[in-house]
Amino acid sequence: MHNPKKGYKESKHENTKTRNIFFRIFVFSCFRDKEGFNVIMVKTYELAVIPGDGTGPEVVREGIKVLETVAVKCGFKLNYNYYNLGGDHYKENGEILPDDVLESLASHNAIYLGAIGHPDVKPGILEKGILLKIRFYLDQYINLRPVKLYEGVYTPLKNKGPEEIDFVVVRENTEGLYAGAGGCLKRGTDDEVAIQESINTRKGVERCIRYAFEYCRKRNKAKKLTLCGKTNVLTYAFDLWERVFNEVAKEYPDIKADYAHVDAICMWMVKNPEWFDVIVTDNMFGDIITDLAAMIQGGMGIAAGANINPDGISMFEPIGGSAPKYTGKNVINPIAAISAGQIMLETINEPKAASMIEDGVVKVLRDDLKSVSAGKMGYTTQEVGDLVAEYIDKNY
Ligand code: IPM
Ligand code: MN
Repeated sequence: MHNPKKGYKESKHENTKTRNIFFRIFVFSCFRDKEGFNVIMVKTYELAVIPGDGTGPEVVREGIKVLETVAVKCGFKLNYNYYNLGGDHYKENGEILPDDVLESLASHNAIYLGAIGHPDVKPGILEKGILLKIRFYLDQYINLRPVKLYEGVYTPLKNKGPEEIDFVVVRENTEGLYAGAGGCLKRGTDDEVAIQESINTRKGVERCIRYAFEYCRKRNKAKKLTLCGKTNVLTYAFDLWERVFNEVAKEYPDIKADYAHVDAICMWMVKNPEWFDVIVTDNMFGDIITDLAAMIQGGMGIAAGANINPDGISMFEPIGGSAPKYTGKNVINPIAAISAGQIMLETINEPKAASMIEDGVVKVLRDDLKSVSAGKMGYTTQEVGDLVAEYIDKNY
């Protein structure tokens, strides 16, 4: 692991927000061929890698193994800059995520994250100080969570298979209850008051809903977008969501606009998951329903997600957390991290490389792994990474 200060790159730009992503993505590295005559141009992406806490480093290692395999196959280059952030770093240095480091992260084409969360650090410190800080600072306003049951993977739902479990949750990622608005009065006394407010802006809601409609159209499956809300109780917040949803829906006559309350969504996700194609929702509901969704697709070892700023720098992560219990044992399932790499390649517009990763994952889940649970796979973490990489290497 690099020293945190090493590998930081000076940002060449003053303002992240005004930077044009295309300008940065199409960076080419030049190599001379063997004779030293022709200069070969290779498309190069700069990746910031945060292995993070617990099993994060183990799964990131396998993700990068697979990313390297497809990069070679598809003829592009990935440069990795490692960032030592997380609970151990905080305990040693008292440093969480300084602003200059944040700015340095912003100078990459994408961020690849393992996990954040440490058993010795009070909940909230690292999550807010690292994960949410990056999401907010880079305005990664979409949290995209595909929910797909692959063949050969166990689902706790009876009589449901890959045909029935295939949908995507588009979660708003910068507002709602996560915005941090609120406070407390008279803390620790009998008169204590605790307030946590949900912030929903017209702009924030609209850009999320527009993204979801576009995504649903591009996905081109059932062409159904379900707004997940709670209009019967949250009559301010979800009134705004519903009005914007209905307005934007008029621009998408090809998409069936559907609504369900969050509690009903939970019920149907278990009873009739085939009803869903794309679901759009606020930050908190999105957080909760995607853990339920992860369970029906086979568990935390499989579920991948992306924090997306469509005009900026996005971050890709397995959604399972740091799993302290399994740390360092070489038993954790790296598939979620590998699939996060797949979504990363889709997002930076390397679709061929991304589909190679999905093919490898499909094959290994179908033919090789005994179970997707940590310690029960029949293979070690490293061996699972090898299986995916070797399959891709042999078949393309
Ligand atoms: C997630 C996680 C985070 C969230 C936590 C770790 C802050 O649960 O990515 O879903 O609530 O967003
Ligand atoms: Mn969560």
